[in-house]
Parts: sequence; C-alpha cells; structure tokens
Amino acid sequence: MKIAVIGTGYVGLVTGTCFANSGNDVTCIDIDEKKIERLKGGVIPIYEPGLKELVLRNAEDGRLHFTTDTAAAVKTAEMIYLAVGTPQGDDGAADLSAMWAVTKAIAPHLREDAIVVTKSTVPVGTNARIFAILKELTGRECHVASNPEFLKEGAAIDDFMKPDRVVVGVRDPEVGEKLRQLYAPFLRTEKPFLVMSPESAEMTKYVANALLATKISFINEMANLCEKMGGDINDVRRGIGHDSRIGFAFLFPGVGYGGSCFPKDVRALTAMTEDKGNLPEMLRAVDSVNERQKTVLFNKVKSHFGDDLAGKRITVWGLAFKPETDDIREAPALVLIKQLQDAGATIVAHDPEAMENVAKETTGIEFCESMTEAVKGADALCICTDWKAFSQPDFAEMYQLMASPVVFDGRNLYDPARMKARGFCYHSIGRVA
Ligand code: UGA
Repeated sequence: MKIAVIGTGYVGLVTGTCFANSGNDVTCIDIDEKKIERLKGGVIPIYEPGLKELVLRNAEDGRLHFTTDTAAAVKTAEMIYLAVGTPQGDDGAADLSAMWAVTKAIAPHLREDAIVVTKSTVPVGTNARIFAILKELTGRECHVASNPEFLKEGAAIDDFMKPDRVVVGVRDPEVGEKLRQLYAPFLRTEKPFLVMSPESAEMTKYVANALLATKISFINEMANLCEKMGGDINDVRRGIGHDSRIGFAFLFPGVGYGGSCFPKDVRALTAMTEDKGNLPEMLRAVDSVNERQKTVLFNKVKSHFGDDLAGKRITVWGLAFKPETDDIREAPALVLIKQLQDAGATIVAHDPEAMENVAKETTGIEFCESMTEAVKGADALCICTDWKAFSQPDFAEMYQLMASPVVFDGRNLYDPARMKARGFCYHSIGRVA
C-alpha cells in the first residue's frame, strides 16, 4: 500500500516506520526542512529504543522516504495518515491549528479513492470536521477515518508491532476493511481489530488515557494516606491487585505522571466535558492530585532539612518523565528542581538520556555523566525516574561519597529496611521508613 504520513513527531515517525517495515511504501512528510534533511541522513530526532535501526533498514530497502513536498507525496498515496501535534491550547482544549492547516494543504492533491486517517489524539468531532472541510474544498465526500494510537514512549516500536487492540472509527465499512488489511501483519496474535464510529474511536483514546491517569492519581492519594496511617502502599497494591477486577498494572505510586499525553489529554477531556455543559469532577481531581503529587518529594526534603536549603547540595537522578526516553515534557523532576533551587539548594543532576534537553531549558544545574559521580558530596539524593540503572547502585560507594546519606526516592526503588541497614536515611512514597 502507498502511504503518506504527515508529521514526523513521535507518533508519525513510529507509525510510518512500522508500516514500512510491514511491506508498505511509506513517505513521511514534515514542514521542518532541517528535520527532514537529518532524517534522510539517518539522524533520529528522538531517543526511542529500536527506532533508529528500523528507520535505517527500511530507508535503505527503499520502503521509507522523507520529504517536505506534501503535494507530491499525497498525490499518489492510497492512505494519508495525519500525525501532527495537537498541543494543549491556552484554555486547556487541544490546539488543532496544525490539523486544519494540513487538511487544507492535502485537499487539492487527494486521489479520488484516498483515505485520510487521523492518528493524532483529536477531540471528538474532529473527523467529522475534516470530512466537512474536505467536502467543501474538493466538492467530493472523501473517505475519512479515525485510528487512535495507544503506544507508550520508550516501548513505542513494540507497542505498535504488537498492539493490545487496534481501534478504527469509520463511516464506510469498506474503509474499515482497507484498514484491517493494513493492520493484518500486526494482529497475528489474534488481538482484536475494533471497528466503530469516528466519534467513538476519538472518545476511546481520551477515555483510555484519562482512566490510566485516574489510576495513578488514585494510588498516589492512597500512598500519601498510607504514610499517615503507617501502612505500606506496596503491600496494599499487592493486596488489591490479586482481585482480577482490579489488577496490578498502572498502580505504582510516584511523583506524579508527566509526558506529552496524560496531562494534555486529561485537560482536553475536561474542556470537552465543560463545553458540553457537564461537570468534569473526576477529571479535575485527577489533574489537581497529580499537580500536588509533583511536590511530594520537595515537601519531604523540607521536612527533613527545614525550609532554607541554602548551602545544600542535592543530587537528582532521573530527569525524563519516565525511563527509556529523553522526553522532559511535564516531567515531575523539573518541578522538583525549580522548587529546590528557589529554596536555595545547589542541584547536581544525572539522567541517561535527557540531560541535553534539560540543559536547553534550565539554568544553574550541574550535570553529571555518571550517576555515582553525581552523588559526590551530596547532602541528599532525590530519585524522580525509575531508570533500570538506578535500581541497583553500589550502595557502599554511594554511602562513602555522599556528605550525608539521605535518599528521597520518588519511585520506591529500594527496600526501606535494607536501606536503613545500609545506613541511609531513606524516604519513599507511601511506605514508612
Ligand atoms: C501514555 C499511554 O500509556 C499510552 O497508551 C498512550 O498511547 C500515550 O500516553 C499517548 O497518548 O500517546 P506515555 O505518556 O508514553 O503513554 O507514558 P506511560 O508509560 O503511560 O507513563 C505516563 C506517566 O505515568 C509517566 O510519568 C509514568 O512515570 C507515570 N506512571 C505510570 C506512574 O506514575 N505510575 C504507574 O503505575 C504508571
């Protein structure tokens, strides 16, 4: 199948590459000339395990192309995937300006049988709007479909190649069939291909992310209560998870969720709810609990050292919003660092992938290539991301290197009793030391 993918961000690049890998002829399009030039040269703009190898292999084999020429790529394409950004606007709702601009740009070049598919997370009603715009501009009823993406950063290739399910929203069953053929190589393990209306598909994406975010805010609130009650949230998690109606996934407490999806999507769904005159009580609570959770480590640091942190050297491990990515959008670590700096502390930071991105956006942070080096002379260590490398440090060396062996663990990586036995003053989330 000949496919054009517009937008070479996370979702677009992964989608295009994986479709090329399953034998399609894919052209990825972006208006950013520098980005396209770099992609042509094999330079991948994001860190995502396995992506670079896959891009290079498919480009070399002639199935994956990069261009800024929308017209040329769209003219021959049977499917046009729209994967442009839908960032949060000033009012919390998704900003769809890129989506509308692209819809208008492709209209004059669409083949008569082309199918325009939205891959970006778009508010309910967007597909209907695209259909209307295309009708106005082409004079025809073009095929439009919604195909939301559920991949996670850091596991994007695997999630795309082996999805739990594929959701498509279509008006015309034939369009659904075409999409089923496209996805057949990814659904060999009998995972479901779900066909519904575009509105339901658009809604599915938001509801999935909002429910996952709700699980996190819920467990964080319970973790904070556990601390006050003298319980251990890890035991509680095990205690509830064995109930098959509840399960274990996505109930790990921490320093709050971040990234480019959950915060934005919860707020966009809030805006949609309000727009329709309903009260988004749950959604608002999920967001506000999360904002508060981003400050829990700072409050623990203050309870330990007092309000004035002048002269304190504090190390932060983990800057990305989660492991296996260099993405720092809405990262809890950045909120913590700002609070620590405002209280007078000196910050030394380490992250396996995200330091360059943080350096571009902040000032006054001392970056360290090695996690061990970073704790040298530190009065405390704060852990914000559960990178694997952080789970088994050389505790004896760490104890020697730190000026005072105090650890604030925002991801519950270590056993409290063992940390005590190693001589550390250890604080974590929802567990008594
Ligand atoms: C999320 C969804 O998981 C994907 O299914 C979805 O496709 C994607 O958003 C999107 O809409 O594009 P992602 O943002 O990459 O994926 O990251 P997650 O792995 O879901 O983690 C999100 C945040 O939740 C991270 O900050 C993570 O540390 C936090 N988290 C996750 C917890 O604090 N506790 C948990 O138990 C799980």
